[in-house]
Amino acid sequence: MRVVSLEREASAITREWSSGGISIGFVPTMGALHEGHLSLVREARARCGKVVVSIFVNPSQFGPGEDLGRYPRMLDADCGLLEREGADLVFTPSPEAVYPEGFSTVVEVTGLTAGLCGASRPGHFRGVTTVCCALFNIIGPDVAVFGEKDFQQLAVIRRMVSDLRLKPGIVQCPIVREADGLAMSSRNAYLSTEERVQAAYIYRGLKAVSGAAGEGETDLAALKCVFMNVLSRAPLLSLSYLEAVDPGSLEPADSLHKTVRLLTAVHAGSTRLIDNISLEPPHASRRTGC
Ligand code: PAF
Repeated sequence: MRVVSLEREASAITREWSSGGISIGFVPTMGALHEGHLSLVREARARCGKVVVSIFVNPSQFGPGEDLGRYPRMLDADCGLLEREGADLVFTPSPEAVYPEGFSTVVEVTGLTAGLCGASRPGHFRGVTTVCCALFNIIGPDVAVFGEKDFQQLAVIRRMVSDLRLKPGIVQCPIVREADGLAMSSRNAYLSTEERVQAAYIYRGLKAVSGAAGEGETDLAALKCVFMNVLSRAPLLSLSYLEAVDPGSLEPADSLHKTVRLLTAVHAGSTRLIDNISLEPPHASRRTGC
């Protein structure tokens, strides 16, 4: 496995692979890798001849007062994990290399970025799409792999790739969870012991909604109540949003007559946690109270 920080080195290596007819799978990350990231690397490994992982804490996707300064950075440990997963190249550019003096272009997907996380994190997705577009151009991957935990990010990236006719096929992988159901995230490391215990109520709430839907409840307001009832048992958690949306357009859904994605963001102290679940329409409709 090679670890390179210079763009010209990374591009030279990947261009050589591509010109030799070897397919490239790419996993962009901000490091502090966990099983969720490693599942993406395995997916890339299964699909492609070579696997490239970027580790870059992208300043442009953090808003003022967000956690850019304290975002966990653990390059050596990350490289150890990637070596074991059989990654071929790790690209670790500096912020100055990605955004050299004079850099003044943004790549922005409109519409899809307005609501959900975009509403409380203005500019976040613009930072994500700008850096992903640049990374795609540097690496030239055939496939880029993203996790479903950042469900809105995935929809935004798909839109960008389609609109700008970028090369990689986008592959999505399921959320990887801790034993108590909490979605794996590098930000889980910020949680206090008590916050960590209560954070499990997020997925417990989503599962309770899925259970109620499975028993026939189709009313989305009633289903949201099911979630809120569970969350109310975790006083350290406060809701940022809970939205049922069409999984492709992210438009708000008005009922459960077709598959919807239920997305949530919850604060545990100063830590923002996101999670989501797919809700399938029940075969027979039956109401439950709230
Ligand atoms: O999901 C992430 O870790 C980041 O948003 C990404 C895609 C690596 C862009 O910085």
